[in-house]
Amino acid sequence: MRSVQNFAWGLLAAATVAAAADSDVTQLTKATFDDFVKTNDLVLAEFFAPWCGHCKALAPEYEEAATTLKEKNIKLAKIDCTEEQDLCSTHGVEGYPTLKIFRGPDNVSAYKGQRKANAITSYMIKQSLPAVSLLTKDTLEEFKKADKAVVVAYFDASDKASNETFTQIADKLRDNFPFGASNDAALAEAEGVKVPGVVLYKDFDEGKSVFSGKFEAEAIEKFTKTASTPLIGEVGPETYSDYMSAGIPLAYIFAEEADERKELSEALKPIAEAHRGVINFATIDAKAFGAHAGNLNLKADKFPAFAIQETVKNLKYPFDQELEITHDAIKKFVDDFVGGKIEPSIKSEPIPEKQEGVTVVVAKNYKDIVLDDTKDVLIEFYAPWCGHCKALAPKYDELAALYAKSEWKDKVVIAKVDATANDVPDEIQGFPTIKLYAAGSKDAPATYSGPRSVEDLIKFIKENGKYKAEVSEAEAEAETPVAPAATESGKEEAKETDVHDEL
Ligand SMILES: *[C@@H]1O[C@H](CO)[C@@H](O)[C@H](O)[C@H]1NC(C)=O
Ligand SMILES: *[C@@H]1O[C@H](CO)[C@@H](O)[C@H](O)[C@H]1NC(C)=O
Repeated sequence: MRSVQNFAWGLLAAATVAAAADSDVTQLTKATFDDFVKTNDLVLAEFFAPWCGHCKALAPEYEEAATTLKEKNIKLAKIDCTEEQDLCSTHGVEGYPTLKIFRGPDNVSAYKGQRKANAITSYMIKQSLPAVSLLTKDTLEEFKKADKAVVVAYFDASDKASNETFTQIADKLRDNFPFGASNDAALAEAEGVKVPGVVLYKDFDEGKSVFSGKFEAEAIEKFTKTASTPLIGEVGPETYSDYMSAGIPLAYIFAEEADERKELSEALKPIAEAHRGVINFATIDAKAFGAHAGNLNLKADKFPAFAIQETVKNLKYPFDQELEITHDAIKKFVDDFVGGKIEPSIKSEPIPEKQEGVTVVVAKNYKDIVLDDTKDVLIEFYAPWCGHCKALAPKYDELAALYAKSEWKDKVVIAKVDATANDVPDEIQGFPTIKLYAAGSKDAPATYSGPRSVEDLIKFIKENGKYKAEVSEAEAEAETPVAPAATESGKEEAKETDVHDEL
């Protein structure tokens, strides 16, 4: 019996090897790993598990990148952590997939790029270049094509200060751009640059942008950020986080068809140009990411649509979906936005006509109730689909009832808000989130992390509230504490935040 099984395994192994032979990704084991990273200067290694969904999604992208990078002598490897547990734990792998860059066995860093073929390729090429490549007339043209945007400085060989400044910037941003420098004065002139100067070459929009300010790190960094952002880019999984962290508002052009996005981009281009560096403009595929319109308080079924998102405070300015998107209408809308003449849209349920039991907070009465400086307010942020929230509900009702009939009924408020139907200023990571906004210190709410029992919640209110209000636990005694207080981040929540995750 045993020999038959071995025979079968042998066949399977042979099949695996044959399949792997077509692949430019090298599968490594404990026996081969060290030698592989020793003999290859630059290796990207993926630690994966066969059952992991993100790993499966990455696989074809990873293969494609491996093939492209082969000619650059950058190797892509993978390690199956269900088979190589020792190797994976040696490398501190805690989740799948984990991607690490090896420059020899001892120089290891985390891969911080996106998990798409072209992103992997571009990221790894940047890793393979020196922080600053020294360029000449003969190498400049090739270097310009190294990535979709490259940064080149021109300064005199004796100009140590500019050299140092530029090297600092390159060290900091080397994951984002290939950096080059030249001290060929004739080349600088031919490129239309006054030395010391910087040019960002790009394979989109006007092809190149010349930095004309003072040669200082902060100004040059800002220039690279602005100049490398397409005039009208595209919001998608690869770009979303960059737009969100850009520090300036993002204007979305939603449309379902590529033709339509192109047409609208053309029409709105002068507006984007006029606000370059102040507002980013980008199209978004409403077929793939239409649900994101809902996050901007647009109707998610009526396209094309336009909205501005203030990304620092997360304020939303949807453009009226009953109106046509024309150059003139959007120009006025954007000018009004910049002039502070438009109020952000706040999603809110109606204010309840009367309150009983747990106080119902909505966006429109949030300030009046939660920030009432005379009261200790305990507020639960919930989602209608969240199972942990449903489990908490009867206990939370009981808590509200206990305070309502106590001496503290005018001092302590037990409240809840459906955070999926109301824009709240709080950043909510999971459901339920419970916070106490104590009287007199509304700018520093305490977040609850204990077991979700009536008894523990009373203790929390007593310890963190201004009034140290305690109610009798007599009725709560039968209550069994539920620990640990996990917040829901399972598939139900994924449904709600899918678009954010996707983007
Ligand atoms: C790792 O390699 C990078 C790139 O060559 C280098 O800048 C860095 O100093 C190295 N780190 C160590 C600890 O050797
Ligand atoms: C910048 O300084 C480094 C180190 O001194 C030097 O190797 C490099 O050639 C200089 N770069 C340019 C463009 O002159």
